Amino acid sequence: MKIVMLGAPGAGKGTQADKIAEKYGLPHISTGDIFRKNIKEGTELGKEAKSYMDAGKLVPDELTVRLLLDRVKNDDCAKGYILDGYPRTIPQAEALDSELAKLGEKIDYAINVEVPDENIITRMSGRRACLKCGATYHLKYVPPKKDGICDECGAELVIRDDDKPETVKNRLSVYHEQTQPLIEYFENKGVLHSVDGTIDVEDVFKAIEQILD
Ligand code: AP5
Ligand code: MG
Repeated sequence: MKIVMLGAPGAGKGTQADKIAEKYGLPHISTGDIFRKNIKEGTELGKEAKSYMDAGKLVPDELTVRLLLDRVKNDDCAKGYILDGYPRTIPQAEALDSELAKLGEKIDYAINVEVPDENIITRMSGRRACLKCGATYHLKYVPPKKDGICDECGAELVIRDDDKPETVKNRLSVYHEQTQPLIEYFENKGVLHSVDGTIDVEDVFKAIEQILD
């Protein structure tokens, strides 16, 4: 089962992808998490990605496509995967589709988590992230058990560099311009399913389970 998570920045793609990964035993592949890990480790890829991310822009397709196509060749992807934050442009989607087509495969589900822009800025201001394992929390809606510490791996939680209100606004406009057209792209392929992302995390997940079960 190959799943793509669609939705604006802060819609809850990562939160839901984690839950899908746990229930269905699939790897959760977030290009954003991969970039952030590389930034933390100071790799060449991280250095290149950082300036784009801090400005709320997309990392260029040349870099992202290669990274993702390599990642899905790993053994852990044999039974499928959940892509969170990829594709983000039509060329990224086409590159993935043509690689899959060579293997006689395709994306089975594109799950679009719908949250209006008004809700996003408040949501982002309370987000805390674990850069070690990728887990996501919210001070009010999804608090960690222990203040500032990741429940999953015990690492310290941080505010993401791109969660400043100005950067979030840029990310939203980039989303509308470059990523939103993917909704129609996947609709035309007959695999699009939309869920209301404004309700409680567990209720969003129930709606997704109904689609996947
Ligand atoms: P990425 O890391 O993918 O960020 P994003 O798409 O902007 O999305 P977020 O991770 O901010 O939000 P999310 O939808 O995962 O929401 P979350 O679950 O955290 O990308 C970052 C950057 O990397 C990009 O801007 C770009 O520069 C670069 N990049 C990455 N992939 C790329 C690609 N393919 N091509 C080019 N560049 C790329 O939830 C948000 C908050 O809300 C959390 O605090 C959470 O606890 C809370 N929350 C979640 N659900 C609910 C709910 N139902 N009710 C209340 N609160 C909730
Ligand atoms: Mg995310």
